[in-house]
Amino acid sequence: MRKPLIAGNWKMNKTLAEGVRLVQDLSYLVEDVEDVDIVVCPPFTILKGISTLIEYDKPNIKLGAQNMHWEQEGAYTGEISPLMLKDLNVEFVILGHSERRRYFFETDEIINRKVKAAFKFKISPILCLGESLEEREAGKTFEVVQNQLFKALEGVSQEEVKHLIIAYEPVWAIGTGKSAFPEDANDTIRHIRALIGSKFTPEIAKNQLVLYGGSVTPENIAEFMVEPDIDGALVGGASLDAVSFSRIIKFRG
Ligand code: 13P
Repeated sequence: MRKPLIAGNWKMNKTLAEGVRLVQDLSYLVEDVEDVDIVVCPPFTILKGISTLIEYDKPNIKLGAQNMHWEQEGAYTGEISPLMLKDLNVEFVILGHSERRRYFFETDEIINRKVKAAFKFKISPILCLGESLEEREAGKTFEVVQNQLFKALEGVSQEEVKHLIIAYEPVWAIGTGKSAFPEDANDTIRHIRALIGSKFTPEIAKNQLVLYGGSVTPENIAEFMVEPDIDGALVGGASLDAVSFSRIIKFRG
């Protein structure tokens, strides 16, 4: 059985005081939730503060980062390493987000290095895949996600891939208020699961968590979660408010 996972990607938002407040409010609102894994991904500057809060208050909330470098240490000005994240008890890291691909020119090769580094440091990558509007209109969605997936997973072992989380985020649905139709998202996610099965084993595919991301809200989350292949959500804007994020986490009502 795949346990649903709902992750909040705060992107470049929240000062320390705002982030602490958000996690405190959220932990109160979701304290009775046991059947969903909850992850927050704050910006680097406040990971330590949120990590300390989680360590002391022990809410049912796990910590993720939004990016990282692939090397453990070295002359890479401005970068953050997997070792540094591990040091703060970070359990997840978002990799290959379309904003990283688009604004910071991250290639599939760079993403592959980061994915392998995450596994090496026992941090679960939340690997983002998704087509642009142009690619979708050209009927290339399956081809694009296959390419992104296989390149990101080059050299990854069967043991490692068991700790992978995939987020299907169509680029045109991110931050636009125009979410995908749940059945369409499910079709692509079913395809992604089949690709995992072909590259690894049917058993691994069956257990593979695949999330949907792109304009998820408290109003539409339930429609995604009824789809058989959608195991959760990667939420941007709607994760920045404790009440709205808690409503998404409590999608069962
Ligand atoms: P929105 O939920 O704001 O559309 O962002 C989705 C996203 O990019 C999560 O990683």
